[in-house]
Amino acid sequence: MTRPFRIRSLSAEEAQIAATALGEVLFDCVAGGASVGFMADFTRQDATVFWLDQTHCRDGRAILVAEDDAGVFGVVQVIPVATPNQPHRVDVSKMLVHRRGRRRGAAEALMVAAEDAAREMGRWLMVLDTVTGSPADFLYEKRGWSRAGVIPDYALMPDGALCDATFFYKALDR
Ligand SMILES: CC(C)(COP(=O)(O)OP(=O)(O)OC[C@H]1O[C@@H](n2cnc3c(N)ncnc32)[C@H](O)[C@@H]1OP(=O)(O)O)[C@@H](O)C(=O)NCCC(=O)NCCS
Repeated sequence: MTRPFRIRSLSAEEAQIAATALGEVLFDCVAGGASVGFMADFTRQDATVFWLDQTHCRDGRAILVAEDDAGVFGVVQVIPVATPNQPHRVDVSKMLVHRRGRRRGAAEALMVAAEDAAREMGRWLMVLDTVTGSPADFLYEKRGWSRAGVIPDYALMPDGALCDATFFYKALDR
């Protein structure tokens, strides 16, 4: 039977406290071969430091997590763009679900919460990118995101292989 989970928004202070758990999610995704900014030599300590750094940001970002009785297993960030000419846009970053919690709807629930968070910020244009043909590519398509285009050889996989990236956007109802 699928285990229940809940989605929660963390304050900056709560996210600092959760940095190790968030780091475990990030570490697991990289260890599982996901191209999310890091290479195969990425360590658990690197992952915790990454989250401590991210959660220091006082830029109004929303940090949304999926958690169950065993703790945090998924996360996504909604980051309001700071430039004065894009007061309506957010970037969606680090959508990550630990392998222990996949295929039970957590990423989809996080994306619903991310859209709500963007609305609460008064923003309506959401942008992200992902590895072309990856599980996340299917996720965003399912959630009704539009493909802006593909950039060939955009980034590296953890093992060093080049990968294409698809850029997506979603304009929320205004
Ligand atoms: C992509 C990721 C976040 C999906 O998390 P998840 O909780 O397993 O996804 P969900 O259970 O909510 O799935 C929602 C939809 O996404 C798509 N999807 C998810 N995993 C998929 C897979 N392995 N293959 C194909 N489609 C997939 C499906 O459309 C799915 O709907 P369905 O179950 O009705 O078919 C997860 O695989 C992950 O963390 N990957 C590594 C990190 C990463 O690449 N993040 C994206 C950065 S942009």
